[in-house]
Amino acid sequence: MTHPFRADGSLRHLITLEGLPRPIIERLLDQAQSLVRPLGERPPVSDLLAGCTVANLFTEPSTRTRVSFELAAKRLGADVVNLEVQLSSRVKGESMLDTVYTLESLHVDALVIRDAETGVPGTVAAHVAPHVSILSAGESHVAHPTQGLLDALTVRQHKPRFEALSIAIVGDIRHSRVARSAFHVFRTLGVPDLRIVAPPALMPEPTEFSGCARHTTLEAGVRDADVVMMLRIQKERMAEVELPDADRYYASYGLTPERLALARPDAIVMHPQPMNRGIEIASEVADGPRSVIRDQVRNGVAVRMAVLREVLAWRGAP
Ligand code: NCD
Repeated sequence: MTHPFRADGSLRHLITLEGLPRPIIERLLDQAQSLVRPLGERPPVSDLLAGCTVANLFTEPSTRTRVSFELAAKRLGADVVNLEVQLSSRVKGESMLDTVYTLESLHVDALVIRDAETGVPGTVAAHVAPHVSILSAGESHVAHPTQGLLDALTVRQHKPRFEALSIAIVGDIRHSRVARSAFHVFRTLGVPDLRIVAPPALMPEPTEFSGCARHTTLEAGVRDADVVMMLRIQKERMAEVELPDADRYYASYGLTPERLALARPDAIVMHPQPMNRGIEIASEVADGPRSVIRDQVRNGVAVRMAVLREVLAWRGAP
């Protein structure tokens, strides 16, 4: 996909990390890093986006992503509206595009979209007025670009030399938009050893994740890794018959302290959440000293502030 830029060089939409040039990724990560504060300190606020309006249009459940987009917009001085799908007119048969045109008429400048259907953010981006930006907050199993950026920021804070890293992404890769965005961002940032680890049924098609080593055992997949990224089984994208048995899954693919001991001694453990403790990850690992899972959440607000700034700051003062 080609990424649209404005006349001043800023990015207009963020729909995927695939093909996003490295300098743009680094600009967003640097900007986000400058906005991260330790817990307990007051986060930075500004009125940079005063007069701008951000709408969150989520048709799939979300806790962290929606709240952090909202906080990010508010901390930059923008107004925020949240549309709950069950309250919106979509249930009355109004098409997504009609909802979008309504929001456009209400002077919304950025639409943050999460949808279970493939292609929705791109379709909306192709139809909105030129001043409106579309940000994907999760598109089916395809892309979750701000999650990929916050994952890259979290890794960079602990392991700044991407070109020296071994990263293992473990779990339901086949149905995971988090894995796909992680793959694109780590590939662009030059990570030489990217591995995907999954039971055969949850492996992606051979045409995807090109260049990644594929492992069907967790022990081989995490050996000497610097980063172990665990993923949830995406039940919502699977038929009942395909669902693996939880206990059997944990027995083979759960990240326990013993299995983590196979990775590097200073390896970090990540998870985008929601976590299923006792299915893909043991509580001792999720809450243990190597876990950076809470850092990921904190970094999410900074990354979304950086992205909103990137796509909206060109509008200047009201
Ligand atoms: C993820 C998602 O929605 O893709 N959650 C998130 O945004 N942090 C991962 C998941 O649902 O498993």
